[in-house]
Amino acid sequence: MERLQKVIAQSGVTSRRKAEELITSGKVKVNGNIVTELGTKVSSKDKIEVNNQIIEKEPREYYILNKPRGYITSTSDEHHRKTVIDLIPTKARIYPVGRLDYDTTGLLLLTNDGEFANILMHPSEKVEKVYMAKLNGIIKGEQINQLKTGVTIDGVTVQASRVKLKKVNEKNNTCMVQITIHEGKNHQVKKMFESVGYSVEKLKREKVAFFNLKDLQSGEYRKLTPKEVAKVYALKQ
Ligand code: URA
Repeated sequence: MERLQKVIAQSGVTSRRKAEELITSGKVKVNGNIVTELGTKVSSKDKIEVNNQIIEKEPREYYILNKPRGYITSTSDEHHRKTVIDLIPTKARIYPVGRLDYDTTGLLLLTNDGEFANILMHPSEKVEKVYMAKLNGIIKGEQINQLKTGVTIDGVTVQASRVKLKKVNEKNNTCMVQITIHEGKNHQVKKMFESVGYSVEKLKREKVAFFNLKDLQSGEYRKLTPKEVAKVYALKQ
C-alpha cells in the first residue's frame, strides 16, 4: 500500500505537491469515489482517476550505478549541481535508493518502485552495506573494536558488523579500511570514523545486500535483471 499522492506523482502526471493539491481540491477519485484525505493508502489494484482520467502506473525500472564523485543523490538540486539522475537516460521518475554524499563514489541503486526501495533501506541484517574508506591516519585495533562494539553518532549508538584494515601507507600516514554497516544514517561512515578520531578522505560503497560493482566502471550503469529484483523482494520475508 502506498500513499495516494505518491502513486499519482509516480505515474508521472504531476509532482507530489501538485498531487496533494489535486486531492484536497476534490479532483481525485479512487474506485469511483472522490477522496480528499491526503494520507489515503492505495494499492496497485485501486483505480485512480485524476480530473476523470485514469492514471497509468509507470512501468517499474531498476538500475545499478557506479556513482562518480561530484554528483548528488537526489532528483533535483537547487544549486544546479549534477545529480545521479543525469547519468541515466530514462523518462521514468526514478530516484536513488538511499543516499551517498556528493564526494562518495560507488554502488547506488535507482528505481521508481517504492516497495523495492523500502526493502533495501530497512536497517536489516540482510541488507548490509560495505564501504572502503581511506582514513587520515592509521587505525588501531582498539578503535576497530570500538566501531564493532558501538559508537554514538548524533545521539544514537551504531555498530559495524565488520571492520577490516586492508592497507597501510606509513609514508602518507593513511590507511584503507573496509567497514560493513546495516543502517543508512546520514554521513554514517564518516561520522563513525570521526567518533574514533579519524577523518575519511575518500569513501566508496562496494556492496549493498548481494549487489556489487562487478564490470561497472565509474559513471556506468546497467538495468537489474528480473532475477535480481525478485531476490530483493525475497529479502523481505
Ligand atoms: N556514509 C557516509 O558518511 N557517506 C556516504 O556517502 C555513505 C555512508
